[in-house]
Amino acid sequence: MPSEGEQPSPQPAGETVRQLRALATPQGAAALARATGLLAARTDVVTALSRLRAEFGADLGGPAWGVARQREKARPVFGADADRLLFTGDTLEQAGRPELADRRAARLLAGGVASAVDLGCASGTDSLALARAGASVLAVDRDPVARELTAHNAASLGLPVEVRDADVVDLVAGATGGRVAGRGAAVLDPARRAHGRRITDPDGWSPPWSTVAALLDAVPRCVVKVAPGLDHDRVPAGVEAEWVSVGGSIVEALLWGRGLSATWRRATVVRAGAVHELTADADPGRAPVAAPRGWLHEPDPAVIRSGLVATVAEQLGATLVDPQIAYLTSDAPVDSPWVSSHRVTDVLPFSVKRLKALLRERGIGRVVVKKRGSAVEPEALVRQLRGKGEGRAVVVVTRVADVPTVLLCEG
Ligand SMILES: C[S@@+](CC[C@H](N)C(=O)[O-])C[C@H]1O[C@@H](n2cnc3c(N)ncnc32)[C@H](O)[C@@H]1O
Repeated sequence: MPSEGEQPSPQPAGETVRQLRALATPQGAAALARATGLLAARTDVVTALSRLRAEFGADLGGPAWGVARQREKARPVFGADADRLLFTGDTLEQAGRPELADRRAARLLAGGVASAVDLGCASGTDSLALARAGASVLAVDRDPVARELTAHNAASLGLPVEVRDADVVDLVAGATGGRVAGRGAAVLDPARRAHGRRITDPDGWSPPWSTVAALLDAVPRCVVKVAPGLDHDRVPAGVEAEWVSVGGSIVEALLWGRGLSATWRRATVVRAGAVHELTADADPGRAPVAAPRGWLHEPDPAVIRSGLVATVAEQLGATLVDPQIAYLTSDAPVDSPWVSSHRVTDVLPFSVKRLKALLRERGIGRVVVKKRGSAVEPEALVRQLRGKGEGRAVVVVTRVADVPTVLLCEG
């Protein structure tokens, strides 16, 4: 558990567990409340730590500061619950969003499934969601810190969760009759980071891809969280793959076991709190291509990653501006959650000089640069294009029929 600064020095798991237990005592809670107050008052780390150590002792002061900092980071995503939960830097980095875990739990348990297992619980986001949805939950992790956190967090929210030490690889290898660890529903969220770095090869995840594939084969009612960049070729036949974005950024990708799979691919777009789902039962192929028209549409990243750009193009009566690039164009504006749209005023070959002249002529002094299929550095181009004019515009740098092109759009 980090006690000071951003870079915690690794300490034995047993020591972290001991500190977490100390924080769960009334004295620990008081230290945490004090650390939270110091953090809210923007007290510098050296002063805060020396006060906490003086008031609560070195054993509680440092850990309380560390958890208070994790809670501060967790608050935007976990809301008020963040102040009742314990995290380490590592488990918070791996934690999913609670509202999406709730959504997953509801689908996993639909039809009255009574029990589920969380295969690798970390600080327990999925276990808590499953318990909130009413399931009897078994949470397993081979990391004692994760088990301690999940047990504490469940107790803190008053949710019944049984926590057990087990190796997910062994549990999945022993799955029989559609059940794993004796449960008929399972969530698996493999660790895809190590030492602060992303592991891109699914065979290097923990547990590895072989366990993911074995779970999908053995337990029909399961969901696996995977890297959003997962190659479509990896998705087993009959398994639904879903990409989820929130506010225009991909936040998770899921593989739904064959007992829950309802479609080939699903793009779930959460915008302004509303959830929109787009599905296709088969690969829609590529959208038709045509020259840029009056409107440019940027598909949401969940639509792009799920391979559903052609489905959206068909719905909107739009075409691609280039066969390799996910920008759509149409004559008329559209009202759709799947795209962000811009009115195109000019289409010109890419040239900073020509672009500057055009912006000057239009009185545009501030631009937002978007790019796809171009090596241009957006921040550098924004600086280059800054001018005296009051007007604003969106500059889209891309390729059209393989020619570097700029689409100037209304800002
Ligand atoms: C990505 S985290 C899970 C995050 C969690 N779903 C959440 O949203 O907070 C993966 C967890 O799996 C555990 N884990 C990895 N390999 C495991 C294995 N073979 N057996 C048991 N646990 C394992 C790690 O210790 C880690 O806590």
